[in-house]
Amino acid sequence: MPSETSQFGIETDSITLQRFVLQEQRKHADASGELTSLLTNMLVAIKAISSATQKAGLAKLYGIAGSTNVQGEEVKKLDVLSNELMINMLKSSYTTCLLVSEENDELIEVEEKRRGKYIVTFDPLDGSSNIDCLVSIGTIFGIYKKRGDGPPVVDDVLKPGKEMVAAGYALYGSATMVVLSTGDGVNGFTLDPSIGEFILTHPNMKCKEKGSIYSLNEGYAKTWSKGLAEYIRTRKEPEPGKKAMGQRYVGSMVADVHRTILNGGIFLYPPTASAPTGKLRLLYECNPMAYIIEQAGGLATTGKERILDIQPTAIHQRAPIILGSKLDVEEALEYLAKYDD
Ligand code: AHM
Ligand code: MG
Repeated sequence: MPSETSQFGIETDSITLQRFVLQEQRKHADASGELTSLLTNMLVAIKAISSATQKAGLAKLYGIAGSTNVQGEEVKKLDVLSNELMINMLKSSYTTCLLVSEENDELIEVEEKRRGKYIVTFDPLDGSSNIDCLVSIGTIFGIYKKRGDGPPVVDDVLKPGKEMVAAGYALYGSATMVVLSTGDGVNGFTLDPSIGEFILTHPNMKCKEKGSIYSLNEGYAKTWSKGLAEYIRTRKEPEPGKKAMGQRYVGSMVADVHRTILNGGIFLYPPTASAPTGKLRLLYECNPMAYIIEQAGGLATTGKERILDIQPTAIHQRAPIILGSKLDVEEALEYLAKYDD
């Protein structure tokens, strides 16, 4: 017999993201609830970015910053708006002391009366070159706990990614999803716009050991190392009896990594001629994605070392990245070791 409420199509006992985090918090006797408050506030920013993303065309939110809308009011570019939402919501959660955003050259210090113990690094709207053509974009975040007393300083955030206490991303695609890890596996939540809540739809996400898709910008092939060139060539021309891999590249890291987690495979942003240390930023692109991938059973490396082991020296530093299914990444590393060392 269907339950009485099912005729309305409404689930009465869903696991929302907030409920999930509260449940996780109960597992730690000493938890203060601050991380739950942080995530709850950040979700407000994510919902607002999701809503703005869907209206971007109509509201003319993309394009040049400072253009005007039909009412003659100044409109902010979507990435500027997303950045302000993230900063304001994180500050007003009273749980953070230091923020690093891709959009701000300098560290963002939270004023003393609103400070808490967490440090958040984020890319408020990644894949921004894809906004105008309506391709999926995302928000990426990493969360650290400040150690020791005293005012926050840059060294508090220059920590290897393995010290993060949580990381995740929001993907604004055909639906809006948040994928989160608090260090005990990876879970995915889909926004139900009818109730404005993120519902657990992808519990315990695992990245397959081996996939059939490789993902990188082949336009830079001329600048690849010998090892990388050989690895990619052999994906297309495998030994007899083996299947060639397919290729997909959205050009939005969140979308490419999300597909890699769901379907398996490998995503690479290697060093190029114009970006000799890679293009993607360590603190708010590589580290959070590496954390999620490892928590899902995959690997993330620069080609030489584990991403999460890197000791950062600057807040906006870049790193090459190879991440995805364990066996695929290991095979890529074999090619790099064989031809590049
Ligand atoms: P952005 O932070 O300026 O949006 O740049 C990051 C994006 C990633 O999402 C994506 O993986 C990469 O840039 C694509 O770069 P390219 O166009 O060089 O392939
Ligand atoms: Mg970015």
